[in-house]
Amino acid sequence: MANLVTLTIDGRQVTVPAGTLVIDAAKQAGIDIPAFCYYEGFSVQAACRMCLVEVEKMPKLQPSCALPAAEGMVVHTESPKVVEARKSTIEFLLTNHPLDCPVCDKGGECELQDMTFRYGLGESRFLEIKHHADEKQWSPLVFYDPARCILCYRCIRVCDEGLGVSALGLSFRGVSAEIIPNKGDHLECDECGWCIDVCPVGALTSGTYRYKSRPWEMNYVPAICTHCSNGCKTTLSVRNGEIIRANNRDRSGINGEFLCVKGRFGFDFVHSEERLQEPLIRKDGKLQPASWSEALKHVAARVREAIERNGKFAVIGSTRTTNEENYYLQKFARQGLRTNNIDHHRSGDVITLIDALAGRKDALATVNDLYTCDAALVLGADLAQQHPLLACQLRANWRHHQAPVFVITPGPVREDQYAARSLRAEAGTEVGRLEELREDLKTRKNLVILYGASVKGEAVRRLVQFGDSLGIPVKYVCLVDYVNSRGAVDMGLLPHLGPGYRPVEIPGMHLDAMMDAPDLDVIWVVGANPLEGGREFASKDAFLIVHELFLTETAQRADVVLPAMSLYEKNGTVTNVCGEVQRTKAGPKVMGTKSDLDILGLLAAQLGFDIGIPSHEKVFDEIRRTVRGYNVPLPVLATGGAAPAAVLNGNVPVDAQPDLVRSSGDTLFTSGTLGKYSKRLTQVMEAPGRLFQP
Ligand code: SF4
Ligand code: SF4
Ligand code: SF4
Ligand code: FES
Repeated sequence: MANLVTLTIDGRQVTVPAGTLVIDAAKQAGIDIPAFCYYEGFSVQAACRMCLVEVEKMPKLQPSCALPAAEGMVVHTESPKVVEARKSTIEFLLTNHPLDCPVCDKGGECELQDMTFRYGLGESRFLEIKHHADEKQWSPLVFYDPARCILCYRCIRVCDEGLGVSALGLSFRGVSAEIIPNKGDHLECDECGWCIDVCPVGALTSGTYRYKSRPWEMNYVPAICTHCSNGCKTTLSVRNGEIIRANNRDRSGINGEFLCVKGRFGFDFVHSEERLQEPLIRKDGKLQPASWSEALKHVAARVREAIERNGKFAVIGSTRTTNEENYYLQKFARQGLRTNNIDHHRSGDVITLIDALAGRKDALATVNDLYTCDAALVLGADLAQQHPLLACQLRANWRHHQAPVFVITPGPVREDQYAARSLRAEAGTEVGRLEELREDLKTRKNLVILYGASVKGEAVRRLVQFGDSLGIPVKYVCLVDYVNSRGAVDMGLLPHLGPGYRPVEIPGMHLDAMMDAPDLDVIWVVGANPLEGGREFASKDAFLIVHELFLTETAQRADVVLPAMSLYEKNGTVTNVCGEVQRTKAGPKVMGTKSDLDILGLLAAQLGFDIGIPSHEKVFDEIRRTVRGYNVPLPVLATGGAAPAAVLNGNVPVDAQPDLVRSSGDTLFTSGTLGKYSKRLTQVMEAPGRLFQP
């Protein structure tokens, strides 16, 4: 156990591990010491002098962000001397600060404004003309106003230490000192906007939010990022039905304040002019606008007719719809349409993993495990590009706890920067190099193994056997692509497995078989684009129903297109790459669209399917009662937490069909269909980028 020291802060005794900084010890005692350059989780800068405190028996005021707590120390955080020093610090910070608070984006959320309100002098002694430097646009997403910058270096540190990107530095000296981007006049970086978020003042501002709103004019909606499978919580700032900004400043959720470029800026697809806002029916060979009642009636009539003549159905589900929608869709297909021809785009071999780990407890890692594990091994994935939050967690674990990371990938990855060992292997051959890491891994206390889409079928079983042979506790993450890729598998969007991996009696056709089948009567595609890249359905005459946000390649071929809501517009739950269930809430409303659950519910009613009420609460209640591992605690979800679904206590005695596992290959700047309709993501110069690049 760590050595403990007891000190007194403002008359309160507090005991903390030796080495704890006084500013952190004070926080533990419920005392908030003002600070600008200090930022939890990052290196000490001690640049701003805002956190000065008085320590008995020390001659001068001390920066509490750089002072380790010591036994018997007596600290005063609000003594007259300290308050006087803070007033001076603020007075100096405001010497050249422009005081354009009424129009500054940060107004109302600015730490300098708050501190000035709390400690500032009523007037300034500096009457000289303020030093000025013009604002700069570093990228479509990041703007820098040097006049507002207080040189706290938070931005430099999050970019360098938090991400390993190191895109920011310092130039000039004294009053002329400025933060500069890595390419002289512009940024080429992850465009994550984390620097904007941590900036205590309005020096760094966001290309999407600048001068759009005051913070108190918006509603704040807790949602889950729809772009990748990591499941970051994002707080959508919504005004007049429009998302204006996304961040997570309250640090709730599994990601704390972290969001990558897609989570922070890629929400603009919601308000794209190309969103479908009315149903389309093919008439005279052309898709033509129709009312919802006409479109639903038309679909119901064609489906009823196909059911009556014992027609053949195929259903392709989505990796972006909620668990409730996926569960309801498979019920609609199995009980309503009476088919097991249902599948989705599988981007990771979850099925083999669940089978290989059957009967075990705690063998699936959570996002938090990546921060606390003793070592991690990544196979076949460019983690910083494909799973930014997971990459950030591993990096933070290495920075804070020196937990080593090992990688086996087909090409260079950012994790090489700090990996204990990096090995290269052709995609699909990664497990062949595992033995070379045995000696390094077996001495660790525990290990988390993360593997991408190139590790599938037998390779997953060999990976688990290798993990078992190390003699240490090992947990796994099967890296899947999209926000509810994992939920689609768990909810049974599979031809041979129902919800909770329960085998069905007569398996249906898988995705490739459905594409190749020449005799389908109705093909139903919910939020997927199987015709992307020039693929075709062999059943050219099948009646094609598509639920979509945009006129994708598949929607263009449809007989009826039903305009669907995106995840940001609906309520429900999703399951992230680590199998953690989280609740997401509806933010904006896009006129003319419906949730997939509502669409299916309305059609079920017209078709006389008795499959339950299409309310997300009722369906989730049914999921909790019937799907193995999903009886998750509601208070955890209600309070914005992530509840791991315990799906491992049973095996999966069927073929995992590993050939159907294909990653979409999305990078940090792409996100399937949604990414294509995000102007923000497509206009940054780093897009589209490539995987496995140094
Ligand atoms: S946007 Fe992200 S990657 Fe770019 S400079 Fe800021 S913190 Fe660094
Ligand atoms: S830009 Fe913001 S975060 Fe960066 S040094 Fe200036 S004030 Fe600090
Ligand atoms: S890491 Fe994934 S879930 Fe998190 S913000 Fe980025 S795209 Fe969204
Ligand atoms: S917060 Fe301690 S010196 Fe800046």
